[in-house]
Amino acid sequence: MTLRQDQHDARLLIVGPPGAGKGTQAARLSATYGIPDISTGDIFRANIKKETPLGVQVKAIIDSGDYVSDELTNALVKSRLEEEDAREGFLLDGYPRTPEQVSYLDELLASKGQALDAVVQLVADQDAVVARLRKRAIEQGRTDDTEEAIRHRQEVYARETMPLIAVYRDRGLLVEVDGLGDMDVVAERIADALAARGITADESGATTALDAPPVESA
Ligand SMILES: Nc1ncnc2c1ncn2[C@@H]1O[C@H](COP(=O)(O)OP(=O)(O)OP(=O)(O)O)[C@@H](O)[C@H]1O
Ligand SMILES: [Mg+2]
Repeated sequence: MTLRQDQHDARLLIVGPPGAGKGTQAARLSATYGIPDISTGDIFRANIKKETPLGVQVKAIIDSGDYVSDELTNALVKSRLEEEDAREGFLLDGYPRTPEQVSYLDELLASKGQALDAVVQLVADQDAVVARLRKRAIEQGRTDDTEEAIRHRQEVYARETMPLIAVYRDRGLLVEVDGLGDMDVVAERIADALAARGITADESGATTALDAPPVESA
């Protein structure tokens, strides 16, 4: 479809602690805004399942709850963003997670003449997410949803990734959304918050974001 010159598909990040419901909301955002949902965790898990060289390399790291190296993760995202469906817009779930990944993504997008439109932060407290993760461990059998790995992932998140939220807040990109409650209600909160920033899904389902100066979040 033809977009006005000042419009393009949305380029979004979704961030939040393990178990905050990023994957669930990312799938909905992807459908609503017509942008690919790119989850580094899902890509790693698919590789582990298929026993690809990458999968074999990262399995033990992921099972323990540590982060995969920036080098491997950045390369993965670079090649995924080069695929046709991600040229105009995308939603990254679980990336960037370290300061090095933030810089890498900045440079990667700048080299394409692109910039992020918004960073959705799903806010959820630790006790609530632990309960969710225990439930998921039973339902989905994720090998990193053991009690010990969950605790470790929360520590790593707090140490490595939480500080990045301030970076995006300072850039005026952060959209904070309460991640607790019914998933339809959370999805509605996200859509409302994005609409308030001029990021909307048009009638054809395609997404447009105005290249307006960032709006200060409340
Ligand atoms: N950007 C990244 N950098 C380094 N490692 C990553 C990255 N993304 C995913 N991983 C690896 O994959 C694992 C699973 O990531 P994923 O995003 O699926 O889960 P999560 O955020 O811990 O929890 P949830 O699925 O509940 O959102 C991480 O613990 C880490 O080992
Ligand atoms: Mg996830």
